[in-house]
Amino acid sequence: MQNHDIANLRLAGEGAAKIYLAERQMPVLTNLRATYSKSKFLKGLTIGMCMHITKETAVLCRTLLAAGAKVALCASNPLSTQDDVAAALVKDGIHVYGKKGETIGEYKRHLRAVAMHRPNIILDDGGDLTVEMLQNHKEKLGLVIGGCEETTTGVIRLKAMERDNVLRYPVIAVNDNNTKRLIDNYYGTGQSTIDGILRATNILLAGKSFVVCGYGPCGKGLSLRAKGMGANVIVCEVNPFNALQAHLDGFRVMPIEEAARIGDIFVTVTGNTHVITYEHMLTMKDGAVLANSGHFDVEIDVEALNKKAKARKKVRQHLDEYLLVNGRRVYVCGEGRLVNLAAAEGHPSEVMATSFLGQCFAIEYLVENMGKLPAKVIRLPEEYDLKIARLQLEAFGIKHDKMTEEQEKYVKSWK
Ligand code: ADE
Repeated sequence: MQNHDIANLRLAGEGAAKIYLAERQMPVLTNLRATYSKSKFLKGLTIGMCMHITKETAVLCRTLLAAGAKVALCASNPLSTQDDVAAALVKDGIHVYGKKGETIGEYKRHLRAVAMHRPNIILDDGGDLTVEMLQNHKEKLGLVIGGCEETTTGVIRLKAMERDNVLRYPVIAVNDNNTKRLIDNYYGTGQSTIDGILRATNILLAGKSFVVCGYGPCGKGLSLRAKGMGANVIVCEVNPFNALQAHLDGFRVMPIEEAARIGDIFVTVTGNTHVITYEHMLTMKDGAVLANSGHFDVEIDVEALNKKAKARKKVRQHLDEYLLVNGRRVYVCGEGRLVNLAAAEGHPSEVMATSFLGQCFAIEYLVENMGKLPAKVIRLPEEYDLKIARLQLEAFGIKHDKMTEEQEKYVKSWK
């Protein structure tokens, strides 16, 4: 049995059933698995992963296992692990370290456990495994061919490492694939954030003032979905270009100080810190609901709320009620951690198929170009994006047009 630290191995049967259904919705990955199981291009290599331990990540793990890799996986968030999936993966032969609701101490121990497997390729979701490797395992860095980063937050962090000259191996910003940004950040976050809020609260969205903080791809998708369910969407945004787009998309745009007073539901999707402060909460209506869908739990200042509120009560599985000093109550979903994974199951499998196809192609690219890439944050060439889109269209059974020879000639000619 592999080395592991999970909640309960007896849950493996339930986890395997979930993975089975996910696989049915991720044919692009199961097809790739068939190819990889012949080429075994990862034989002899260890993949260290810090990702949400979900049924979709399980399908990715199985794909890498089929390619001959040894795989060690830890959670990229203390609340996002699906314990049954973790158990099924241990039975599959993966070294899994993660439990839903693990403490910060356990979370850090699990990162270290993955690093101790001496990974050759790092798959990260948020940058924590990269930071662990760079800070605490310098002697193992020579073994690392490269890394892949799944999230906007992680890419921002990695670019800061590159700027500070501490990055020691190439990292592919899988997040920056056009297919990832569109399908995962826009459609995926749009749907799964609403899913998380509804599972946590079971409230009606129609007619509510729904404040979205951050109008990047995630915020755009979320705003559109909330509007589609009848909410009045208000956008708070620091970037003038994004704020202008929000305005032209038909949403009210205003500073958070103003929005705080009129919103019913608040969602942060910025990748930044203290977007909603305790002072903002004091001006909110009684009954306001707060959720975060950004990677880290710092976007809503839950720490200050925990210190300063008069009382805290768990009122549903993923919902805490806080009594403020002014006598009003606010409700926080999933402890301010990413609500789609803390209170729901993250993005649907079809969405993750696209993102994880990007991860697989990034790994192929790292292996093919071993030793030739700079220790920088790199984007995959555009042809990969087109290939991902083509494969996913095929999986959806959708045909589309091709240019005729005449048209190809026409667009290439300046005459
Ligand atoms: N990030 C968002 N949704 C996810 C999922 N279902 N699995 C893994 N990572 C995710």
